[in-house]
Amino acid sequence: MKNKSKLNSFYYGFPVFLVTTQDSNGNTNISAASSSISLGEKLIIGISKGSKTWHNLMAGSDAVINIPDHTQWEKVEQIGRLTGGDTLSEAQTKWGVEICHDKFSKSGLHAEASVDVAPPRIAECPIQAECRLVSTSDKGRFILAELDIVNLWVDDHLLGENGMVDSTKWKPLIFNFREYDTVGSALGFNVKYGH
Ligand SMILES: Cc1cc2nc3c(=O)[nH]c(=O)nc-3n(C[C@H](O)[C@H](O)[C@H](O)COP(=O)(O)O)c2cc1C
Repeated sequence: MKNKSKLNSFYYGFPVFLVTTQDSNGNTNISAASSSISLGEKLIIGISKGSKTWHNLMAGSDAVINIPDHTQWEKVEQIGRLTGGDTLSEAQTKWGVEICHDKFSKSGLHAEASVDVAPPRIAECPIQAECRLVSTSDKGRFILAELDIVNLWVDDHLLGENGMVDSTKWKPLIFNFREYDTVGSALGFNVKYGH
């Protein structure tokens, strides 16, 4: 038997990423996020209105999608409790969010220059996608930002002989109904595995 459940926090196992954007003064912001769709060269991310990331994207900032692995969950949780904005909402105050205009220094992460977009990559993230902002669409409390991946960077140790990520070496950080998780050993392989 099934019961109707609340729609809060319907995060049924999403890979976590850290998105870097820049404001019009060239200041970089980092935000923890998990709402994304990836297909071909497109990435679509969901970003709450009022966040510094939203401000930066609405002002036309490109973005880097930096993908941490499962060992980095505490860093992600720390960054998730910071905002690059100047004021705090009632909800942010309730959850102990702090204002921080230099999340690299605060978190101990390091910036690495991107090649084709202005926001830097996060050196500690094994996978990084430099993205150009294509469009934003208003969805009420949040926006969807459509991004085109222009450069994809992957740490050597994750690459297989075909130049693609060897999935057996990659342990993503998964947001599972607000619990941090990773994946276990392979259950099986898709018909297109390795291509
Ligand atoms: C694991 C995790 C996933 C999150 N996913 C999202 C998300 O997909 N979209 C979003 O807007 N905020 C998400 N957040 C919340 C933001 O990280 C948080 O609001 C942050 O303060 C925004 O920073 P900013 O105001 O500097 O952009 C997530 C937080 C955590 C810890």
